[in-house]
Amino acid sequence: MSVLEKMSSKEAIALEEKYGAHNYHPLPVVLSKGEGVYVWDVEGKKYYDFLSAYSAVNQGHCHPKIVGALKSQAEELTLTSRAFYNDMLGKYEKYVTEYFGFDKVLPMNTGAEAVETAIKLARKWGYEKKGIHANQAKIIVCENNFHGRTVTIISASNDPVATENFGPFTPGIVSIRYNDIQALEEALEDENVAAFLVEPIQGEAGVFVPDENYLSEALQLCKSKNVLFIADEVQTGIARTGRLLATCGNCSCTDKSCSGVPEVKPDVLILGKAISGGVFPVSAVLANNDIMEVIRPGNHGSTFGGNPLACAVAIAALEVVKEEKLAENADRLGKIFRSEMENLIKQTDLVLKVRGKGLLNAILINDSEDSSTAWDICMALKENGLLAKPTHGNIIRFAPPLVMTEEQLMECVSIISKTIKEFKK
Ligand SMILES: Cc1ncc(COP(=O)(O)O)c(C=O)c1O
Repeated sequence: MSVLEKMSSKEAIALEEKYGAHNYHPLPVVLSKGEGVYVWDVEGKKYYDFLSAYSAVNQGHCHPKIVGALKSQAEELTLTSRAFYNDMLGKYEKYVTEYFGFDKVLPMNTGAEAVETAIKLARKWGYEKKGIHANQAKIIVCENNFHGRTVTIISASNDPVATENFGPFTPGIVSIRYNDIQALEEALEDENVAAFLVEPIQGEAGVFVPDENYLSEALQLCKSKNVLFIADEVQTGIARTGRLLATCGNCSCTDKSCSGVPEVKPDVLILGKAISGGVFPVSAVLANNDIMEVIRPGNHGSTFGGNPLACAVAIAALEVVKEEKLAENADRLGKIFRSEMENLIKQTDLVLKVRGKGLLNAILINDSEDSSTAWDICMALKENGLLAKPTHGNIIRFAPPLVMTEEQLMECVSIISKTIKEFKK
C-alpha cells in the first residue's frame, strides 16, 4: 500500500493495531488535517481539538508562520550535529534566553529528555557547587507527578502503570505530597538534597492547581537550604495557563484583573511541547551561568538537540505567542470557560467540579475512578464534534489551542453542555 493512498479510519486503526506497539490507548478517531483550533478526520468530519496534543499545539494547528519557518529552514540546512557550529543555534539561544530571562539554555528534543537533563544538571551542581558527597545527591519530587517516561523519570513516579516491571529504578529520588509545604520543609532537612523538581500545576494527574502561595513558599524554602528549584513547565508553559509561564507573576498581560500572583523564578526551567507550536520536537533547559557552567563538553548532548530546523521553528513559535497575545487570550477565555462549566454543574449531577488556570482545565465526573464514564463522555463529545480525553479515571482535561476566539469557545461550551446533559450511563 502506498503511504499516499487514502484510507478509512478503520483501516488506519487496524494498521496501528497490527504494526505498532500498544503503548497508547487513543480515542478511535483518525486525523489527517489540522488548521487553527480545528482538526479533520480521514472521512472529512471536522472537530474542535480540545487537547492540543497535550498542550503542544498552543499556537493552533499548522500555524502558517511556524510552518513557513520550518519550510524555509528545511531548504537551507536541517542538521549538522553539535560537532560543528551552525548559524541558527546561537541566534536561537540568544532569543530564548532573553525571552525567558536566563543566562543560558541547553537544547534538547523531547520533554522527557529535558527533565533528564535538568536532573543531571542538578546532580552535578550538587557535587561541584553545593559540596554533596559523591553519589549521595537526592532530588525531591511530588507524588502523582508526570515528568515523562524514561527509566530515571519513572523512578520518580508512583503510577503503577508507568512503573510495574520496569525496575530496577534510579536511586536518589525522594517523593513528597504535592502542595504540602511542611512535607517539603521536612524533606529539605536532608543536606544531600540537590533539587526540588515540581510541576507548577499537575497536568496529567488531573490539572491540580496548588494553593496560591505554594510555589513561592517552596522557592523560598529551597533558597534557604541551597537547593535548586526546578520548574517542569513542559505542559504549563508557553501561555497555556494565561501567563507566559505558570510560575510567572508578571507577563505581558494587559488584563487589569491580573491576579498578580507572586512571581516564582525557578533556578532551572524546563520547557518542551509548545516551544515549537507542535511542529517539531523541541525542548529546553534554562538556567543561569552559576548553574549551567557545571556542564562541560562531553557531559551531555543529543545529535538532534539544537538543530537548525528546531531553532528556526522555536523562534517563530515563540514570536507567535507574543504577537498574538496568547497568554492574555488564554487568561480571558479560561475565566469564561470555568464560569460556563460552573453553570453547567448547577444543571447536572454528572459533573462535580471544574478546576484549572487559563486554558488548562479539567472537569471531575461524578463516578468512580475506575469507571468508563469519562471515556464514554469523550466518545460522545467526539460524535458531537469535539475531541478531548480523560487524564486519570474520571477526570476530563480541556486544553484547546490558545488561538481560539470567544465565539468558538462558546460553541465548544454548548457542545460540552449538550453532550453532558444528554449523556446516559
Ligand atoms: C509536565 C510534563 N513534563 C514532561 C513531559 C514529557 O514530555 P514528552 O512527552 O515530550 O517526553 C510531559 C508530557 O506530557 C509533561 O506533561
